Amino acid sequence: MSDYDLLLRQAKVKMGTDDSELLDIAIKNGRIVEIASTINNDASVTLDVYGKLTSPPFVESHIHLDSALTAGEPRWNQSGTLFEGIQIWSERKQNLSLEDIKTRAIATLRQQAEQGILFVRTHADVSEPQLIALQGLLEVRDIVKDWITVQVVAFPQDGIFSNPGNEALLEKALQMGADVVGGIPHYELTREYGVKSVERIFELASEYDRLIDIHCDEVDDEQSRFLEVVAACSIRTGMSTRVSASHTTAFGSYNNAYAFKLMGFLQRAQINFIANPLINITLQGRADTYPKRRGVTRVKELWQNGLNVSLGHDCIQDPWYSLGTGNMLDVAHMAVHVCQMTGMPEINACYDMVTVNGAKTLHVEDKYGIEVGKPASLIVLDIDSYYDAIRYRSKPLYVISQGKILTHTTPEVTKWL
Ligand code: FE2
Repeated sequence: MSDYDLLLRQAKVKMGTDDSELLDIAIKNGRIVEIASTINNDASVTLDVYGKLTSPPFVESHIHLDSALTAGEPRWNQSGTLFEGIQIWSERKQNLSLEDIKTRAIATLRQQAEQGILFVRTHADVSEPQLIALQGLLEVRDIVKDWITVQVVAFPQDGIFSNPGNEALLEKALQMGADVVGGIPHYELTREYGVKSVERIFELASEYDRLIDIHCDEVDDEQSRFLEVVAACSIRTGMSTRVSASHTTAFGSYNNAYAFKLMGFLQRAQINFIANPLINITLQGRADTYPKRRGVTRVKELWQNGLNVSLGHDCIQDPWYSLGTGNMLDVAHMAVHVCQMTGMPEINACYDMVTVNGAKTLHVEDKYGIEVGKPASLIVLDIDSYYDAIRYRSKPLYVISQGKILTHTTPEVTKWL
């Protein structure tokens, strides 16, 4: 009988902040049991991956699985704006069924997993009275748990106080088992409702012991300033790293004097940031002529100031973003461009934003990373650096989840004739 179930030989792994090393990785009963320069014991399956970049899996820290794969239903978003997207989704969600949600969510998760994503935070719209999207995604979370970890955010797409009944629906979603409390303060009817919604989110998170992830200031209005409210609530409650602010695109439009002051508060708050450059470069700036704003938060500056930033795809073929396949390297590639992170340390940071930083945001660090004792969830890419991973954006050669080889992709081969 073999000593190990699976052995990776001479994988190129980045350990800590040091340069990459070539290492053997031994896996047994779903966990990493040994990492060394050379392992002499035998294994049931051995993969010789000499010099191939081997990394913890990609983390999708912001996606809407409930709306994925619905682009064009019932109609295409012609203006390309967030608000037309919300209107189209309000029509499409009249026809939701559990089967519809589950089929599309699982198809999307399979697409994500074969591209190396093994941890996903999805938002579930909890603004419709039957809570079908939430129920469907909670069931999916359980169905797929042996190969991909899904976290569900109770997301009140139409606001908490701007629609009667939505506050109760949000609380019911937490009672049903949502992992994270969401919100959308910039879409509440008034500034006061927006502030009240953030305070209510913190109360609910504390009462039900959940994480927080708020769609915050996803608008080009430089007066949209709910991020400071989130920071203040985080400082007051000490919830800090349990809190994430998604999008924060208005931060890209704030004047520098205010942005500088805010950055100090954010460092005190130590909350996480999730930017979605693919979608926000297309959604935002629609009311601008020229110069036209990029509509993405200050990713580079947040990173330079030591804050945890991760990246999300946000939408895949839905009313807000009709393109995409779920590839996190597409997201990192867009971040390099839109956030002007073209220096080599910056390119490497963008890879971290779709891997380890996302794990911090999701609070899954106990089961994430190439370390002895952790579940063996990792990917092997057909290149040898983060730089080339982002340049080529190819599917991993192998995706290994909890010790099992989940997918193998044969690299493209082009012959000159
Ligand atoms: Fe979103």
